[in-house]
Amino acid sequence: MAFSPEFIEELKRVTSISRILGKFVTWDPKKTKAAKGDYWACCPFHSEKTPSFHATESRGTYYCFSCQEKGNAFTFLQKSQGMSFADAVKFLAAEANLALPEPTGKEKEQAKKVNYLIKIHEIASGYYRDQLNSSIGKPSLDYLKSRGLKSSTIKDFGIGYAPNMPELITLLNNSGYSQEQIVEAGLAKHSDNGTGVYTTFRDRIVFPIQDSRGRVIAFGGRAMDPKVPAKYLNSPNTQIFSKGNILYNLHNASALVHEDNPLLVVEGYMDAIALHQAGFTASVAPLGTAVTAKHLTQLWRLFPLPIFAMDGDEAGIRAAQRIVDLALPFLSPGKSIRFCTLPQGLDPDELIIKRGVQGMRDCLNQSLEFCDFLWASETLGKRFDTLNARTILKDTLNGKIGQIENPVVRNLFKNDLNQRFFDNYIRRSSNKAGLKKLKPTGHLSRKVKESLTPDDKTAKDSEFYLLEALIVSLCLHYPEIIDDSIDEIETYDFLSDELNGIKSFILNHQELIATSPESLMNQLQGSEHSQEIEMLLDIRELNILPEISDRRMSTQAKSLFQATLVRLKNLRHQRNLIQEITDTDVNTYDNELLNLLKDVNLKRDDIETTILDQDSMIPDKENDDLNEDKKRLEEIISSLTATSHNSDTTSILTPPKATEPAKENEMVMENSHRISKADYQELQNLIDK
Ligand code: UTP
Ligand code: MN
Repeated sequence: MAFSPEFIEELKRVTSISRILGKFVTWDPKKTKAAKGDYWACCPFHSEKTPSFHATESRGTYYCFSCQEKGNAFTFLQKSQGMSFADAVKFLAAEANLALPEPTGKEKEQAKKVNYLIKIHEIASGYYRDQLNSSIGKPSLDYLKSRGLKSSTIKDFGIGYAPNMPELITLLNNSGYSQEQIVEAGLAKHSDNGTGVYTTFRDRIVFPIQDSRGRVIAFGGRAMDPKVPAKYLNSPNTQIFSKGNILYNLHNASALVHEDNPLLVVEGYMDAIALHQAGFTASVAPLGTAVTAKHLTQLWRLFPLPIFAMDGDEAGIRAAQRIVDLALPFLSPGKSIRFCTLPQGLDPDELIIKRGVQGMRDCLNQSLEFCDFLWASETLGKRFDTLNARTILKDTLNGKIGQIENPVVRNLFKNDLNQRFFDNYIRRSSNKAGLKKLKPTGHLSRKVKESLTPDDKTAKDSEFYLLEALIVSLCLHYPEIIDDSIDEIETYDFLSDELNGIKSFILNHQELIATSPESLMNQLQGSEHSQEIEMLLDIRELNILPEISDRRMSTQAKSLFQATLVRLKNLRHQRNLIQEITDTDVNTYDNELLNLLKDVNLKRDDIETTILDQDSMIPDKENDDLNEDKKRLEEIISSLTATSHNSDTTSILTPPKATEPAKENEMVMENSHRISKADYQELQNLIDK
């Protein structure tokens, strides 16, 4: 019903905000000054211990000084109680004893139309259900069963079958509905020559679509014939159905959602149904359209943190990124979304069939929070070696943060993302040179963390593991990489035993690569490595890379492989060097150490050569730092070695005079060489790095 502005104004005038809000919050007796029309409570929109939620009686408004939520009695009921505007009006009118305005003639007309459209859908639903259970619907029923649907599920969802026959039109005509009304309902279309009508759904399994009150208002139809161009077809938009406003199965989900049964948003009808059958009963799906702001509002009315389970393909990941952009302005304290990226190539329906309920649960347990997903989708698989690349990233992140309207959420995101940016790209690049240590990042999915055996000291480094897993993953997704880079793969020794196991398997089964890309994967999945493979295919951080999610990016995959391998080799070299130097007893500063340092230099040269050979994957800055360090090392080493067969007394290493004690600024080495404390410190610094 449409309400006139006059009516709404009158309703506002007679509404007492303190009385209405007082039904849902407890006014703080100490802070509240009722006589002045000043009311305070703990904010219902975020959790807090001291009241910062304030209502002003005279203005009929509220404002939270902490989370900055604001509005009037209407918005309060909509936001905190999930009412629609019309319901809020009805609620407030009842509270104020104000009679609702009489519907106008046009409104009465409209209500009548809605009535018969709903009635037509009721009749059609019954007809479609009957058809599914008759002989003409047998192949469809068999098909649904072959896809694992139980009879009870088919019944619960009211699934039916629309045969390729005009029977429905006759049936509706006989029930008193005209051709025109059936067309209005979207169940029939005018034929091109304008002489008659034909049914919209022909030879399709039909899924009734309900509104929030559970009334059937449209259908989705899945073609039985695989050759039909549109696999799914929805009712056209009508007076009672608007695609972008409706979520499939929302009505059922609303009755079943609770803390331990979170609201799930999936891409397709069959996914929502399969999830329901598997016990995830609060599952909804948009109707083949992108998710809209209206959808978000409806979701948040039911549940504060719905999970979007996107198909593990490129389209799914892109859809998730669009949802990020859509949701940013609407995030508020406590109202956000989570993202669950499904294993590559599977939708929820297929995942449940393949890996059971537990497989789905495991996957959901790994959902990424909004900020984690945002960070991952902007950074993973990308390089930020150059200042320019980092500038672009910072700018993108700032742009995203700027989209967030709620100041509390905005500040938190800003701090969080800035911290990540700093940890990943500032602190690291300001570390001198190549010998920097890798810091395990705190933002990796549990899968990755779990995959690291606690006693494997080196592999504990989760980022290192990720890079290694990426290498293997790329090989499995693009077996041609194995062909191209067999030597490199052979010589690369993975830190992770699991990955080394998979590598050996690949090397021992090279003949499979040639037969078909799938056969290698199949063999691995059936081998003793099956668990490692499942785990590898489940790593969120990898699955959102376009190269992994879309198997057609062979060229990009190859260069990502090369880049990752170079980076890994480089990190490995650095790691080994650090190990070697730290393993050396620093007190024995003798020729052995000098040789080691020389060796370090040589090895660094190696690293650089490798890198240069492969089209430098090391940031320029790091190369500079490396060179600078190398020069300093060289200087020290050459002065040290020079003095061992040169008795220049001005040298920093005076040949030993056994009896003479060390001067205050000198150290005496084990081999009786002397070294100035400053130089000793410098050496020490280089070693510590
Ligand atoms: P998918 O192509 O992922 O199909 O479309 P699905 O859900 O896996 O279906 P099954 O398992 O093959 O039966 C996902 C959703 O996109 C919309 C539908 O809403 C579908 O559920 N869609 C898809 C269309 O609207 N039209 C199409 O032609 C295809
Ligand atoms: Mn499917």
